[in-house]
Formats: sequence, structure tokens, C-alpha cells
Amino acid sequence: MKRQFFLPAICMVVMQLFGGSLLAQTNNKMMNEQYRPQVHFTPEAHWINDPNGMVYYKGIYHLFFQHHPYSSIWGPMHWGHAISTDLFHWKHEPIAIYPDSIGTIFSGSAVADKNNTSGFGKNGRVPLVAIFTQHDSTGEKAGRDNFQNQSIAYSIDDGKTWIKYAENPVIKNPGRRDFRDPKVRWYAPQKKWVMSLSANDHIEFYSSPDLKNWIKESEFGEGRGAHGGGWECPDLIVQDDNGKQRWVLIVNLNPGGPNGGSGTQYFVGDFNGKTFTSNQTATRWLDYGPDNYAGVTWSNTGKRKIFIGWMSNWIYANQVPTETWRNATTLPRDLKLKHIGNDIFVTSQPVSEIASIQSKPILLQNIKVSKNTDIGKQTGKIKFPCRINLSINKINNFSLVLSNELGEQLVIGFDKKQNQYFIDRSISGKTDFQKDFAAKHVAPRLTDNATMKISLIIDVSSVELFADNGLTAMTEIFFPNQPYNQIHLQANDSIIINKLEYINLKSIWQ
Ligand code: FRU
Repeated sequence: MKRQFFLPAICMVVMQLFGGSLLAQTNNKMMNEQYRPQVHFTPEAHWINDPNGMVYYKGIYHLFFQHHPYSSIWGPMHWGHAISTDLFHWKHEPIAIYPDSIGTIFSGSAVADKNNTSGFGKNGRVPLVAIFTQHDSTGEKAGRDNFQNQSIAYSIDDGKTWIKYAENPVIKNPGRRDFRDPKVRWYAPQKKWVMSLSANDHIEFYSSPDLKNWIKESEFGEGRGAHGGGWECPDLIVQDDNGKQRWVLIVNLNPGGPNGGSGTQYFVGDFNGKTFTSNQTATRWLDYGPDNYAGVTWSNTGKRKIFIGWMSNWIYANQVPTETWRNATTLPRDLKLKHIGNDIFVTSQPVSEIASIQSKPILLQNIKVSKNTDIGKQTGKIKFPCRINLSINKINNFSLVLSNELGEQLVIGFDKKQNQYFIDRSISGKTDFQKDFAAKHVAPRLTDNATMKISLIIDVSSVELFADNGLTAMTEIFFPNQPYNQIHLQANDSIIINKLEYINLKSIWQ
């Protein structure tokens, strides 16, 4: 099914008139409403989708994001803005980029133009340059094909304020309805910028000496990987592979994800400044859960590749039962490569900066698990957000069940026969806002190691599972009517969990 990006202009004006005052009211809120994530980024108010323009500069991580500042439903997109020095504690900043006559501000990226190739820098100041799609909903409504064009803006005050380039757009639409989400990187061997751009069923690569003049280099994607929906939000990154450079193309896909709706696949391969090639035959997913979409990495972080996604799914993103704001980002994750046999996988792990919000672990050892083992006595009453690390020496079926007195539960576990991790949110609380939400989702175990390690980061309304050192990741959101306050381990045959660490996480908003 195609998503329509059209929103009547009149609606936009009404929301601008009334929306401003609503935002002002929420500015003093404590960010602790029901379901408000406590260790994940959310805007103070209203709608968020894709993370955009992430760039690290002068010790600050900039996070821009698809934002409707006047409504909790998707609409005319602006770039919201937040900054952090540790990827967890975020300071909300004013809107960075507003719509104009060329269009609203869709997804894109930002770079630090250290050599001032663009000429935007003044008095030795390095310009930060944002590259984004401008979406003209009037053109879309009129049935034209050229309503998505690529534009740029720059900042010469380290990202605080942004000036649009007078000669936008810098890449004109060649007549494709889907032509968006430019992600730009520096290609050092040829001293040029390279852009990955999504074009429905493939990615197009462009290059430029100055971020203003672009030429098309190549395409990738026909007949490759998953094509259950449109390709969006690409990212071409280079990863260190024991001293060798390995290129990875991240491609977001909607619908057609591994558990329905939005999903993120990747291709491991090579890039020569013009063409991306990959021998990979299997489809690989960065995350198997339903709620990690449109993720890309920060630029200007050297060899480190830090990824963040949007923690939702287009199937129900506009319906999730939150009030003042809607949707969130995933945890920031470090991406690395892992060889298994002849295959190369991309692993994701929560960034190590998470240590700053972790309290001392409560350690349980050699827990004998039978049908239903209450571990609440040892951990103390379970509270969110928290992290639970499990080590298991003998692979077996088991479930970890979070529940409340209403009988609502979230079940996270492993199915030995299927060799799959799973998260079941069928009776997790409020689920009826969309028919597909109440479901059990599965993810393959990709290693045959004899021991298993799982780390769960559980926020007020989300869980992220990282198994086998990040080889399998799953991200899910949920909405219990009352917070879960019980924690049980369950197994059919009695098993032993060798180690369980329960770690309280401090709210990032306090
Ligand atoms: C992905 C996406 C992008 C687009 C943006 C619009 O979620 O559809 O392709 O730029 O969201 O908000």
C-alpha cells in the first residue's frame, strides 16, 4: 500500500495558529506522562518520525528529526533538533529547518564541511551542511511526478541556526514519485562527497565536489534483497574489518519488513567511489522487531559507526496511544562487523555511554527455572526503565514474562526447536488501536555458540533485545494499562539461568 504524503494546506495553517500555544504549554512538563520513554529520545511535544541529519561536531551529537511541531499526527515535516554530549541526555533545541515554497522538509543528512568545499564557511568557521528532500504536497496532489527534490542548508554557528541555499534545489527530480532521503558522506580517495538516495526500488549514488553540484554515478538494488515495499533512507558506511575496509549499504524498506511493515536491511559489499557491489545473496536485517525504522548513522564520528532508528512502524505510528507526543527513537547503537563462516553480519549493541545511566547491577546466579519462577523477590519490585542481562550455558526453551495485576503481559524468550528468539505482545495491554499490533514476532539465532547471552533494555513502553553480542536485535513497543510490576522466568523442562543481572536505569529527563 502506498502512503500518501498529501496534507491540505488549510489544515497546516490552522495547526500553525493553534499548535504554537500547545507547544508552549508542554515546555514545562516533566516528560513523565504515561508511556513517555525515560531513556529514549522524544520531542517535548507532538509528532516525530525519522532521525535526520545526525552529525557529531565539537563534542556535540546533533540529532535532527522529522517533526510536526503542531500535531501528533504526521503532516508538514520540519526538522526538529536536539543536542547531547553523551547520546542519552538530550537538550531540545528550536526547530532547525522550516518548510518553504519548494516544499516541506523530508529526511536527509548533515556533514561537517571541514575543507569548506561548499564555500559556506566564513572567517575560518567550518560550515555544517544539511542535505534533505523537499516535498511539495501540492505537486503530489496535482498528480505531478517531480514533487520531491534535494536541497541544502548550512550553519556557521555550529548547528544552532540554518540558512537555506539560495539556489535550491541542488538535485532536481528526473520524474520519479519516490526520490528522497539523501545521505551524504565524504569519499576521501577521490576527495568528493557521495550521496545515497532512495528511488523506490533502488538506491542511486551521486557525487559532488562542493555539495552544490551533483552528478549521478550509479544505481544499486534491482533484484537484490527484500522488495516488499519502497526503499527509503539509505546509508553507505565503511566499517573496519580487521584492518580491511568493508562497505555496508543500509536500506530501509516499507512495507516488507521481517515481521511486517517497516524494516531495515543491509548489504555488505564494496564501493569504488562510483559503484556499490555486493556478493551477499541472503537478505539481512539490522533488527527483526517491528519497531526500528528509518535508521542511519551519525557522520563525522571517525571509525565509530553510531546508528539510531525511529522506534515505530508505519502500520500504526499515527495511532499509538500516547497523548502529548507520538513515537520515539531507538537507543543509539554501535554497529560492527562479525564473520560467521563465509558470511559477514552487522551487529548492533547499545552504545557504551549507557553506563552513565546504569545503577549497580543486582546479580542472581544459577537460577533454577521451572514452570513459573518468580524472580521479583530477588530483584525487588521491577521498575522501568531497566536493563536485564542473561547468560545461559545450555541452550533451551525459556521465557521471561513481564506482567501486571490486570493479566497483561509481555513475553520475551527463545524457542530452541525453531532456533528463534521471540517477543510476544499479544496481550501486552492496549493493542486494539490497530489490528496487527497484538502479535508474536520472531527472529533467528544466527550463531551456534553453545552459550547464550541476551541483553534487554526495557523502557516504560519499549523493549530492545540484543542477543549473541548484537547478532540478533529486536525492537518492540507496548502499552500496558498499568505498568508491569512482576517478572517471572518460565521453562517447560527445568533449566538453569547461570547469571541474571538486573540494572535500574536512571531517567534521562531528570
Ligand atoms: C521514512 C519516510 C522518508 C521520508 C519521511 C517523511 O519514514 O517516509 O522516506 O523522507 O519519512 O516524513
